[in-house]
Amino acid sequence: MQRRLAAITGIQGYIPDYVLTNAELEKMVDTNDEWITARTGIKERHIMKEPGKATSDMGKIMVEGLLQKTGTHPDEVELVICCTVTGDMVFPDTANIICDKVGIKNAFAFDIRAACSGFLFGLTTGSKFIEAGTHRKVIVIGVDMMSSIIDYTDRATCIIFGDGGGAVMLEPAEDGYGIIDSVFHGDGSGAKYLHMKAGGSLKPPSIETVTNREHFVYQEGKAVFKSAINGMVDTIRDVMSRNHLSKSEIQWLVPHQANIRIIDGVADMLEFDKSKVMVNIQKFGNTTSGTLPLCLWEWEPRLKKGDNIILTAFGGGFTWGSTYLKWAY
Ligand code: COA
Repeated sequence: MQRRLAAITGIQGYIPDYVLTNAELEKMVDTNDEWITARTGIKERHIMKEPGKATSDMGKIMVEGLLQKTGTHPDEVELVICCTVTGDMVFPDTANIICDKVGIKNAFAFDIRAACSGFLFGLTTGSKFIEAGTHRKVIVIGVDMMSSIIDYTDRATCIIFGDGGGAVMLEPAEDGYGIIDSVFHGDGSGAKYLHMKAGGSLKPPSIETVTNREHFVYQEGKAVFKSAINGMVDTIRDVMSRNHLSKSEIQWLVPHQANIRIIDGVADMLEFDKSKVMVNIQKFGNTTSGTLPLCLWEWEPRLKKGDNIILTAFGGGFTWGSTYLKWAY
């Protein structure tokens, strides 16, 4: 008997209107368009500027669009997973807040905080509820409002991150289509290179933590850079070999958008045709949990039923991995 699989049956992205350009960053920190473009590939990122708006407001727009696109009534949704490191509050989970804002009343909902690998981990977690046969409509959201945790006086991080993301609907798939396999890893010893110093139980917020600017992303870029390339390349190779896939059989590689040099490094090491690699980092920067759904959303009109797609990510934790899916529509 063939294994029951879950497939993405719809996708809806969202990015806030405000565009933060390299020219504007030049006025905020000691940097320039040439450096940012050459070292990261980023030209613009979108920022949620509306006062009082949070990650759940972006999630709400994505989920409302997704329900409309897939012809789904909110009552039919059984599970909502929100992948984010910038939830509205430390608790409760933002997935619950999104459900309330959208009017989803029959679902249980929770967050996944796996940083830039969040959406991949969420996609596989959500698909397992469908594979088990217990759930038929699962929404997975990858969204971050990175501007809420970025220090706009730190030129090494403020040039990289943006806000936005996307939501997908998962449903039982026709034979052979859907999310087929994932290779995931974690290594907590990498936490020292990419984290937020305060605000958790280790260092609760205080006047001192605020004064020391410890509620922002801290990153040692070089250490993350090297691990990111190796982690993505290794897991892409593993997932390809486990599923007897050759390069020519893969239609699309969807890499986490952290740095164009990382994306190029991965493609070069695998000798992967760059025309098959999704890249939109120049427009959106690194939206953490949002990058992969933003790519799929943008490329959706070009995807064909049966396309073999590999998604890959690396992020804070460290967390990393690759997922193989066969596009279902
Ligand atoms: N503008 C101008 N100069 C800058 C700069 C900026 N925005 N940011 C850093 N620099 C300077 C540094 O101060 C340093 O100067 P120095 O040599 O005088 O000390 C020099 O540029 C090189 O800095 P470095 O940090 O070594 O640059 P880099 O080439 O490693 O690029 C990152 C920095 C952050 C872009 C890069 O390391 C990166 O993308 N890392 C991985 C990010 C990632 O994958 N995150 C993980 C998942 S989210």
